[in-house]
Amino acid sequence: MDIKKRINELTDEVNYHNYLYYVLEDPVISDFEFDKLLKELSILEEKYPEYARADSPTKRVGGEPIEKFSQITHRIPMLSLDNTYSKEDVIEFDLKVKRFLNLPADKDIEYECELKFDGLAIELIYENGLFTVGSTRGDGITGEDVTKNLKTIKTIPLKLINMEDAEQVRRAGQIKYIEVRGEVLMDKKAFKKLNEQRLKDNMPLFANPRNAAAGSIRQLDSKITSARNLVMFAYGIGEYSEELRFSTQFELMRKLKLLGFNINKETKIAKNINEALDYYEDIAARRESFSFDIDGVVIKVNDIKFQEKLGELSKTPRWATAYKFLAKQATTVIKDIIVSVGRTGVLTPVAVLNPVIIGGVEVQRATLHNQDEIARKNINIGDTVLVERSGDVIPEVVKVVKKAGIADFKDSNYKSSESIGDIGSSSGDYFKIPNLCPCCGSVTVIDGAAVRCINELACPCQIKASIVHFASKRAMDIEGLGEMLVDKFVENKLIKTVADIYYLYLEKENLEKLEGFGKKSIENLLNSIEKSKNIAYDRFIFALGIRHVGEHIAFLLIKYFRDIKGIKNASVEDLNSKFGIGEEIAKSIYNFFRLESNIIVINKLFAAGVNPHAVISEKIGQEAVSPLYGKHFLFTGALKNFSRDAAENIIKERGAFAEKTVKKGLDYVVAGDEPGSKYAKAVKSGLKIISEDEFIKLLNE
Ligand code: IVH
Repeated sequence: MDIKKRINELTDEVNYHNYLYYVLEDPVISDFEFDKLLKELSILEEKYPEYARADSPTKRVGGEPIEKFSQITHRIPMLSLDNTYSKEDVIEFDLKVKRFLNLPADKDIEYECELKFDGLAIELIYENGLFTVGSTRGDGITGEDVTKNLKTIKTIPLKLINMEDAEQVRRAGQIKYIEVRGEVLMDKKAFKKLNEQRLKDNMPLFANPRNAAAGSIRQLDSKITSARNLVMFAYGIGEYSEELRFSTQFELMRKLKLLGFNINKETKIAKNINEALDYYEDIAARRESFSFDIDGVVIKVNDIKFQEKLGELSKTPRWATAYKFLAKQATTVIKDIIVSVGRTGVLTPVAVLNPVIIGGVEVQRATLHNQDEIARKNINIGDTVLVERSGDVIPEVVKVVKKAGIADFKDSNYKSSESIGDIGSSSGDYFKIPNLCPCCGSVTVIDGAAVRCINELACPCQIKASIVHFASKRAMDIEGLGEMLVDKFVENKLIKTVADIYYLYLEKENLEKLEGFGKKSIENLLNSIEKSKNIAYDRFIFALGIRHVGEHIAFLLIKYFRDIKGIKNASVEDLNSKFGIGEEIAKSIYNFFRLESNIIVINKLFAAGVNPHAVISEKIGQEAVSPLYGKHFLFTGALKNFSRDAAENIIKERGAFAEKTVKKGLDYVVAGDEPGSKYAKAVKSGLKIISEDEFIKLLNE
């Protein structure tokens, strides 16, 4: 066998499959086959190191840690972008572009739109096709040489591959020199996992994925970087040799992709500034669904000739702007810390904040999670803190930026969110969760990271929270029965357990005595209680609030044991072996059905007419679930064949959710006659809209 030839073949092949897998996300061989090729290559290289190539995939990690980074001066400074925060700013940017180009204000300029990645900017130099030097942006003029670390990132090609049209390559020749620029990111999942591990190892946590990515790139030991699962997206170039030709930014992106770089799928052309604004709206609506953090979109003049004419100011190009999202974080002061008691008795500390607007929404409270988190972040009343609100998640306190009473906070633990830093540890002046339950005064126990009140059935907070959970949208969906009413009912002894909800109709007189609760509201509430009796079986199980039984486990329980009788009769072993749930969960389910008081409540529910339906076929173990299962519907306008209530009931019985407002995550908007403003909003948000006929078809599927 010609060893050198085989090593060459294997190197090219593995690099190519790496590109298909990481950049195109379209592999053509299995992981097993890939590993086989890589293994063959590393065995051969070990025996014949003289034939190993510089761009060998086995060289992504290796060698000893380095002492320090050397400095790299960028041949062309790495600029930053001008920021815009409003539609008006963006329109002004477009007008400025046209003024500069001497074009009429009503002419359309084509823009290339990209995501604005929230990571660390880098530059990669390729000489004669080989990756030679990689550096951080630094101050834009000089950065640090982090070549070894960048080599560990699989979305960075070690050698330019040539997916170009063969004719074009023949005409222009291979690219001799190119500097490719882009952003290194850590995805949100990897970030969460990394911080969880660091918590276990008692190491300081990273404040956000950007800091984690930056910290990972600036590691002296590339083995650490390699373990961090970073990705890189390319968005531009610095200096390059003449073989590379392109006339638009979009074409440049396409060419970079053909050379092996990771170009984000969301890179799009907008025919004019209005389409660029639509692009922003679309991305902003989906912001949380990306696996990595973005902080806006970048709008770039597409035509390179125009870009050249527009040129640069000292720090920013005139041909691009970053249209940024409203910040997810803000600083404010903690006015108070209250401790709430959840349905499982866990005491959760909550910070009461000086109200602050984050991402367009006023935030007044933020979770502090548990005692360990408070201690680790050294949080107390009066402190100035950084608060983050992302998506639908409860806002949380990220870190203290200034301790109360310390005029100039010089603690080395504090680093601004912009710095490559981490969250410091405590100095001991932090809030302590009380030893007794703040709700019922009972003793508490330490349960892992949590502090728990053990007074389960007699703690009013636990009772209230479990009733609120029972009535909530994802459980029994009793419209109108929220925290405030439950508080009132429990305090006035109208309900003691969830079963009492279904006997409230006997208390009409007492209900009427309650302040602010009129005849109409009572009627509405009793109606929605009645409606909730027909419910998908798994949601009924979820509603019971068995510890550790979330929606997914409730679904599995019904799938395997059919109904409550089946679950009740299952032994811990049955539960444990049937669908591989852990022993702790199995025991919790088993114990729930051994408690007399729980059985009484369940029997009372059935006696009141609660009638859960199986949404899963009789054939146990088969995935014959209604296609509507778990889907979110919104009805708008008048339907011909159903009343609104009837339509909502039908879908709920099949395990779907009936929503009232237009929001992301809706699967179907069913539009009847004269649908109104919700319809317009749904169209604008790009949601799937179906007619009543299509809805009926869906029901019959
Ligand atoms: S282009 C001359 N495109 O934003 C133009 N930058 O504020 C230079 N960034 O340092 C950059 N996503 O780290 C460009 N799609 C994108 C980007 C992007 C993120 C970062 C980059 C730069 C900073 C400028």
